[in-house]
Amino acid sequence: MSTLNDTARAMVAPGKGILAADESSGTIKKRFDSISVESTEDRRRAYREMLFTTSGAGDFISGVILFDETIRQQASDGTPLPKILEKEGIIPGIKVDKGTTPLAKSSNELVTEGLDGLRARLVEYRDLGARFAKWRAVIDIGSGVPSQYCLNVNAQGLARYASLCQEEGIVPIVEPEVLMDGDHSIGTCATVTTATLLTVFDELIAQRVELEGMILKPNMVIPGKKFAGGQASPSEVAEATVRCFREVVPAAVPGICFLSGGQGDEEATANLDAINRLGPHPWQFSFSYGRALQAPALKAWKGDDANIRAGQDAYRHRAHMNSLARSGSYTEAAEKAS
Ligand code: 13P
Repeated sequence: MSTLNDTARAMVAPGKGILAADESSGTIKKRFDSISVESTEDRRRAYREMLFTTSGAGDFISGVILFDETIRQQASDGTPLPKILEKEGIIPGIKVDKGTTPLAKSSNELVTEGLDGLRARLVEYRDLGARFAKWRAVIDIGSGVPSQYCLNVNAQGLARYASLCQEEGIVPIVEPEVLMDGDHSIGTCATVTTATLLTVFDELIAQRVELEGMILKPNMVIPGKKFAGGQASPSEVAEATVRCFREVVPAAVPGICFLSGGQGDEEATANLDAINRLGPHPWQFSFSYGRALQAPALKAWKGDDANIRAGQDAYRHRAHMNSLARSGSYTEAAEKAS
């Protein structure tokens, strides 16, 4: 059996990254609303089957994060969807948190739920093929927030989840997402991201999480979407991001896989590319994108099986571009050649 570290390293193998396809029922409905497609179980299955059967995706994608419904679904030929991924050399993973709820005695802060019964759920998911898991905590930047109280409870949840995963032989993706909504500067994002990660690593270490057997999934250090000073260039994002992670993330962590968090798809690729151009780094800097890998594929598919080929071509292209960004070799010419 492979160790946690073997799996974690395979998840951040050079040239590869992770597809986050673990949208909850509410989130996938929003994505389908954007292409005017009704979110039925059959359409969700068809959409994800389209992504997972994309030939050659395994050259660029190491793992896929699934939602509870998806890990139990079958492709049209009856093959379980996790098996379809394995055939392509892609590791199946599973989202195990149960979303966020308002944090008690705080205004406008959230805490992630899902610890009750988690040990038994992990055993079941492992039997269904999952070799890694994901838990997302959400940290908002605004007037007076985040509080250290919010950082503490979310970090405790992430660490409890991570420790349980490792006990079951599952690699935890630890995802503390500092949101890019709001009008804050890149400097404020850096301050909050640093405080968040310091709190998270304190808890991970206190709860005996093996850092060699986990993956960190953070935001990049980037200005808020409504920042009056406008957006930052890829080199500005890269410098602020690398400076922040060098200060707080132990080198024992095999990989840092960014979320896209509302960045445009080409923007997310260009920023990852700029980060890797500043290397070598102590960790693999990779991607675990949801929207930034799927947006063009969703638009090309439009809910119609006649467009499967077009959807797969769009997904393969984004996966390929992000694969180039893993080694800082993404170019405008590669982006335009399809
Ligand atoms: P985005 O890349 O769309 O932010 O999704 C990644 C993810 O898994 C968020 O939890």
